[in-house]
This record gives sequence, C-alpha cells and structure tokens, in this order.
Amino acid sequence: MIIVLIGYMASGKTSIGKKLAEKLNYNFLDLDDFIEDRENMSVTDVFKEKGEIYFRKQESHYLNRLLKSKNNTILSVGGGTPCYSGNIDVILSAKNVKSIYLKASLTTLVNKLMSKKATRPLIAHIETTEEMTAFIGKHLFERIQFYNQAEIKVSIDNKTKDDVVEDIILELF
Ligand code: S3P
Repeated sequence: MIIVLIGYMASGKTSIGKKLAEKLNYNFLDLDDFIEDRENMSVTDVFKEKGEIYFRKQESHYLNRLLKSKNNTILSVGGGTPCYSGNIDVILSAKNVKSIYLKASLTTLVNKLMSKKATRPLIAHIETTEEMTAFIGKHLFERIQFYNQAEIKVSIDNKTKDDVVEDIILELF
C-alpha cells in the first residue's frame, strides 16, 4: 500500500509521515524533497528561476511516477499537489493507495506558518499575522474542496505528532 498525506502547508505531512513510516515499517518519501533532488535546487529556487507553472508540471509528473512505482510507502505531497493538474483524481483512483487529509484549523496554520514561512515561496513575503490570516483563510477556502476528497481525515489541532500517528493507525486498520 501507498499512504498519501495531503493537507495545507505546515500541517505536519512530512514530520508525521516520517513517524508513521517508522511505526508501520514503511518507506518514507516527500514529494518536494524528491523534486529538489531531481532539479538539484530548492523548491524556492525552482519557483524563482523556473516559475510556479514549471514546478506544478514536475510535481504532477513525479506524483504519477511515484504512485506507479512504489509500495509500502508513506508519501507526503506539497500543500498544492492535490489542487492542480487533476492530481487528486490520480491519487483517488490509483490502486492500493489510501489518502489522508491532515486537517488543521486556520489558527493552528497561522501560528505555525508565521515561523515557518521562509522556505515557502507562496507565503515568504507575508509580514504580519493579520495578513497571514487573511491569505491562508482565502487560500484554504479555495483548496479545501480538494483536501476534503481524501478517504480519511484526521485533525491535528492541539495534538502531539504521536497522537496524530495513533489516530491515523486507528483509522487505517
Ligand atoms: C506549496 C507547498 C509546499 C511546496 C511549495 C508549494 C503549496 O509544500 O510544495 O512551496 O502550494 O501549498 P509543503 O506543503 O510541504 O510546505
């Protein structure tokens, strides 16, 4: 099985994915890291030098490739991955793939992203908490329709990463 973790930036897809992989004795893959390896540059530099459209093409290409070629893997994808190029349909229709939405409230996301925005080109320029709240509120509203299509939804609000991993395991088996 491949377990795909989806959700907004800073919802814990990578850190929770690594813990879940350890627990289940699965491999762990992060789609952004995979793209960075292939492109030999950071996601920030891909956005800056080649543009977001190029990034979205690569993201969709490698998602399709990984879903076809991997097994026993936790795959965390970028916050935008399910929202472009029909990627959510690819995830939902792939064989032996379970999708999990790591759901976080606006307050949780704003708090986390104020200190973690530097490596995220879409929000790196935002300065104040008020602006961040307005941006994420609108962005999440546009994206939630894609995230909500995941087969399993697990809230991360006010939980430790270990709690979230336990909740995911309860939902999966
Ligand atoms: C993006 C999220 C990022 C990364 C890129 C675009 C998005 O991944 O793919 O900066 O569109 O939400 P994380 O969700 O891991 O931060």
